[in-house]
Amino acid sequence: MNEKITIDLSKSYNLLHPRNTVLITSRGEDDRTNIVAIAWCMPVSIHPPLVVMSVDTGHYSNDLIQESGEFVVNIPTMDVVTETLLCGRMSGRNVDKFEASHFTPMKGAKVRTPLIKECVAHLECKLVRRMPLEDVNLYIGEVVAASANRGSLINNVIDVEKVRLVFHIGKDEFVTNDSRVVTPKSS
Ligand SMILES: Cc1cc2nc3c(=O)[nH]c(=O)nc-3n(C[C@H](O)[C@H](O)[C@H](O)COP(=O)(O)O)c2cc1C
Repeated sequence: MNEKITIDLSKSYNLLHPRNTVLITSRGEDDRTNIVAIAWCMPVSIHPPLVVMSVDTGHYSNDLIQESGEFVVNIPTMDVVTETLLCGRMSGRNVDKFEASHFTPMKGAKVRTPLIKECVAHLECKLVRRMPLEDVNLYIGEVVAASANRGSLINNVIDVEKVRLVFHIGKDEFVTNDSRVVTPKSS
């Protein structure tokens, strides 16, 4: 049972999946907005509340995050898994993803970047540092406001009995807090 097999180094990141996928909204100087699916995002400090995410330097989201110095981490549920995949397969350079996904932009409390109404929770972040690293940018954001749907939390934690989170396995496959694997139809 504990016999080990060797994994190709370029595939080793898969051993850290499935990962909770978030939708990062961003806003440029001229109010252009964008949404990108990010599986590599996590909290890194409680005081102050900091999150980090890894964004490929080729992604359009870099332009907007660097222009405004802010971003929002939106937590999707399986109700919007198809839209989540769309935001991870199209670039905002070529398409308005709010329009394409039919997500509803919503005003935040502390940042000008829109939240996604259909997501269950939101962390509004001010960019505190960008760390270029090989072909990615690591963005560290300080959470300046946080909100969640009423009834979606128990003791400030997502109620996993009710809220079906979106975990990315790899490619176009997702799993949630039950064991069914889901491949959205439009992929
Ligand atoms: C489920 C999922 C998770 C993803 N996670 C990441 C990630 O953590 N980092 C990243 O750079 N790209 C990630 N991507 C790829 C980007 O979302 C994708 O390339 C997107 O089209 C870039 O959009 P943009 O050019 O509008 O910024 C992910 C894609 C999917 C489908």
